[in-house]
Amino acid sequence: MASDGHPQIIVAEDAEALAEIAAERLLARVTPVTERAAVCLTGGSSPEGLYQRLAREPYRSKLPWGRVHWFMGDDRFVPGDHTHSNMGMARRLFLDRVSVPAGNIHPIPTDADSPHVAARHYEAELKRFYGRDRFDPAHPLFDLVLMGLASDGHTASLFPDSPALDEAERWVVGIERTGLAPFVPRVTLTFPALASTREMLFLVTGEDKHDILMRVLSGEDLPATRARAQGDLVWLVDRATGLEDTDAVRHATG
Ligand code: 6PG
Repeated sequence: MASDGHPQIIVAEDAEALAEIAAERLLARVTPVTERAAVCLTGGSSPEGLYQRLAREPYRSKLPWGRVHWFMGDDRFVPGDHTHSNMGMARRLFLDRVSVPAGNIHPIPTDADSPHVAARHYEAELKRFYGRDRFDPAHPLFDLVLMGLASDGHTASLFPDSPALDEAERWVVGIERTGLAPFVPRVTLTFPALASTREMLFLVTGEDKHDILMRVLSGEDLPATRARAQGDLVWLVDRATGLEDTDAVRHATG
């Protein structure tokens, strides 16, 4: 089902319940895929509970690790073992704790000469994996794309007022200036690349996200508002965000 910018909203009881629902959705997306499944991960603190869960039972046994490929929607331009590395976090919390073939992990190459060079290399890697140079709506690149929401409305590393928001051709771009800490250059997938997915799942937790979530869901022009998915677009939030039977939920869910 195409989302047409009309998202589904799920309110989880708390951050634990949110992680459980996200893990179940991930499992449901990758299990039926008979050849290769592709999941695009996100950084930030919101996916931590999900990542920890994936390394534990029942997901540890149930996930078809051998045929799931793990990508990253954006990363900070720091070495992979740096505390600010998004892929470093995913490795620490789950990928290093389960039996994943090394070739199934696709980090953004942050050891390249610059974020722009890293972006070109990662775009080439995505195209190799996909087997095409242009997106075919009938064949999404990803089975699941995870996204976060920051207090300034950015998602992935697509910041307010950045020219990257309007990028229509490139799949991955380098970002020199960021609006929020950590103030290091980034490499990010663009909206067209992130949209090539059967499901885009935003994970948002905590009361400090209330205001920005309401602004995004009411349609204000912020980066996260521009996110689209060829398949389902789902906002999974916890009750602490204060999103419960509000006008924004009614508006977004129609
Ligand atoms: C990053 C992220 C970023 C993140 C948001 C939300 O590299 O920083 O990919 O887009 O998802 O900043 O972060 P929290 O989940 O920590 O609020």
